[in-house]
Amino acid sequence: MATHVVTGAFSYTGKYIARRLLADGHTLRTLTGRPRADDPLASEVEAFPLDFSNHASLSYAMRGADTLYNTYWIRFARGAMTFERAIENSRALIAAAVDAGVRRIVHISVTNASSSSPLAYFRGKGLVEEAIHASGLSYGIVRPTLVFGLGDVLVNNIAWTLRRMPVMAAASGGRFEFQPVYVDDVADVAVAAGREDANVTWDAVGPDRITTRELIHLVAGAIGRRALVMPLPPPLFRLSSTMLGLMLRDVIMTRDELASLMGGLLTSPDPPRGHTSLREWARGNAELLGRRYASEVARHYR
Ligand SMILES: NC(=O)c1ccc[n+]([C@@H]2O[C@H](COP(=O)([O-])OP(=O)(O)OC[C@H]3O[C@@H](n4cnc5c(N)ncnc54)[C@H](OP(=O)(O)O)[C@@H]3O)[C@@H](O)[C@H]2O)c1
Repeated sequence: MATHVVTGAFSYTGKYIARRLLADGHTLRTLTGRPRADDPLASEVEAFPLDFSNHASLSYAMRGADTLYNTYWIRFARGAMTFERAIENSRALIAAAVDAGVRRIVHISVTNASSSSPLAYFRGKGLVEEAIHASGLSYGIVRPTLVFGLGDVLVNNIAWTLRRMPVMAAASGGRFEFQPVYVDDVADVAVAAGREDANVTWDAVGPDRITTRELIHLVAGAIGRRALVMPLPPPLFRLSSTMLGLMLRDVIMTRDELASLMGGLLTSPDPPRGHTSLREWARGNAELLGRRYASEVARHYR
């Protein structure tokens, strides 16, 4: 058994990774901006500050650890929190892991990350992958597509909306395909990547290849509602989701997220490593789906 460090063990993907590592008997630390004494994992995970400006403190938190499981990233730029800053923060974390003598980094990236991408999210992810390649650390890079699970910001919030109204807007009629992956499957792939010694880069995609139109109908069917999909040209869809975001004080879908969907970036040519079907999962979790709105802004900016 070893000691590992997971960023964001009280947040979304990090929580599932933490649960798997704890179940395997490992000792766990987390780096987080929001330590939560009331979290069910709090008594089992020692929390340290995710303070990128303090190299000594980051490095101290990782000293003696075998693997850093890094989930840190931002979904969108907001105020002083830009993608450039998130890249610098990630580089600071990697440098601290090197100084701490960590054996391996398992890094959660995204499918089709590339430093030459025109999309800031994907470009930043590509640059951070390059920083990992250059760090000298042994690495496992895990590249998920869209991650679903209880409390996620897409599937859950589609259900939340459909519980209130039967109409849902979709860019270009929702004809763009993606391969959603279950959050616990991502954790499974991450832990498997942690066990390797060789450097690996693995896509983490689920078994379903569906369009957003199918997703809306699938969620509606699971929660026993009807859904009318309202096709909108992409610029109008963006406008409508920006307005809805203002009403909900959240960000519904960023320009990069829409562009990545339209550009097929949330798919992979590789065989799926995730086994959980969104169709079956949505039916099995219908009671809980969309009961509460999941706000990214509330999670990370308030
Ligand atoms: N969710 C998806 O659909 C999806 C799809 C593809 C790739 N990914 C990648 O998977 C990884 C985990 O995603 P997730 O959705 O599970 O993220 P998350 O748990 O919400 O956050 C992961 C970590 O990033 C920190 N963080 C997030 N936003 C931040 C902000 N604005 N300012 C400061 N810290 C912030 C969190 O800090 P705290 O510990 O303080 O909460 C946490 O440590 C990310 O690298 C993401 O890019 C996610």
